[in-house]
Order: sequence, then structure tokens, then C-alpha cells
Amino acid sequence: MIMKHINIALDGPSGAGKSTLAKRIASSMGISYVDTGAIYRTVGYAVRERGIDPSDAAAVRSILAGISVEAVFENGVQKMFLDGEYLGEKIRKNEISAYASKVSAIPEVREFLLETQRAVARRNSVIMDGRDIGTVILPDADIKIFLSADAECRARRRCLELGERGEQVDFTVILNEIKERDARDSGRDTAPLRSADDAVLLDNTYLDLDGTVKAALGIIFAVLERKK
Ligand code: DC
Repeated sequence: MIMKHINIALDGPSGAGKSTLAKRIASSMGISYVDTGAIYRTVGYAVRERGIDPSDAAAVRSILAGISVEAVFENGVQKMFLDGEYLGEKIRKNEISAYASKVSAIPEVREFLLETQRAVARRNSVIMDGRDIGTVILPDADIKIFLSADAECRARRRCLELGERGEQVDFTVILNEIKERDARDSGRDTAPLRSADDAVLLDNTYLDLDGTVKAALGIIFAVLERKK
């Protein structure tokens, strides 16, 4: 159990297994897991609900002042609310992924969600996953990990995950989507996906979940030991 306030930033591309890893680390260290992708997905969901083109920055900007996006933690589990409505698994649908990726490239959307993310980290010991946690949201995080795996491996994992949720998908389609999202998330001007200079890189292409957790905990405790 960690007694002092601690912030861990976990960044990396789609499908590297950030959320699964973060949940395991959160439970083994007794801290909260903050899923920032879910926060962007909630905005993506709002945009889709209103029939707005997620690439139309002006149209997306115009709804921001009128929506309320809340992350509520219940027994350490993050729940997303849009205008007071609990969204549950609705934000997990594959079609929402592209909406989230597109709206997240709009600077005003990132600005709109910045303080929500920082406030959670100030109040709680967290492991927060996303794309710009170590670079923008929590530049002073105690520990930064950049998790990646090759695109084929991430596409396989994503197909399995969607299959478990009952969404049947084609591997090649998913692989192409992952490559498109990588290009969009890394190529955007605002807060592109990149590793912070002081992040530790962890490539889990050839690691299973237990191996990834073990490697990540090894990194965390080594950094904490060094900072003592
Ligand atoms: O991790 P995810 O697939 O749930 O994220 C959905 C999209 O949101 C992803 O394409 C990139 C974007 N995102 C972001 O730009 N910054 C974050 N901190 C988290 C997610």
C-alpha cells in the first residue's frame, strides 16, 4: 500500500493494453485508475448524438459550453456521465473510437477537459492513462511509463476484446483503423501522442498481461526507490 500522494502517467497508442495494465497496477498499489480515453469518448458520444461531423472543429467547439462531462468514482471505478446521464458501455462501441480520436485533435476540446483531469490527480493518488498525460496533463508525475506494442499485436488484442463484448469485427479492418488512429493521434498539432523525455518505455509485444504487470511494477518501484 502506498501511503503518500502519488501520480503515475501511463501513455501509449491505442490497443497497447494501457487500461488493463492500469487497473491491475491501481488495485495492487491501492490507488485509483483514471481512464482519460473515456473522457474523450464521452465528448465523441455527445458529438455523435447531435449528428455533428467530428472533423468539423467549429461545430464541435460550438457544443462544448452546453455539455457537462463528469467522471465519477464509485469504489475506485470510473463512471462517465454526460449531462447527468450515466453512459455505461455506450462509449465503448467501436464507432465511438473514431469520434473520440477526431474530437480529441481539436485544441478547444483538450482545453475543455484539461482541468477535469488535473483536478482528479490533485485530489487522489492515481494511475492515469492516455496520450498526453506525461507530456501535458501531469508533467510533474512521479512516474511516467510509455507502453507500446506493434500494430498487428494491438489489432489482435482489440479484435479479441471487441469479440468478448459481442462485436464481430474483421482483423484487417481493425488493423487499418489502428494505423489510422496512430497516425491521427501522433500527427496532430495539439498534444500529439509521444513519449515524455523522462518516461520509461515498455514494449509489451512479446509479453502477456502478467509479464507486462510485472515489468511495469518493476519500473514503478525502481523509480520510487531512486527518488527516496
Ligand atoms: O484510449 P482510448 O482508445 O479510449 O481513447 C480514445 C481516443 O481519445 C483516442 O483515439 C485518442 C484520444 N485520447 C487523447 O487524445 N488523449 C488522451 N489522454 C486519451 C485519449
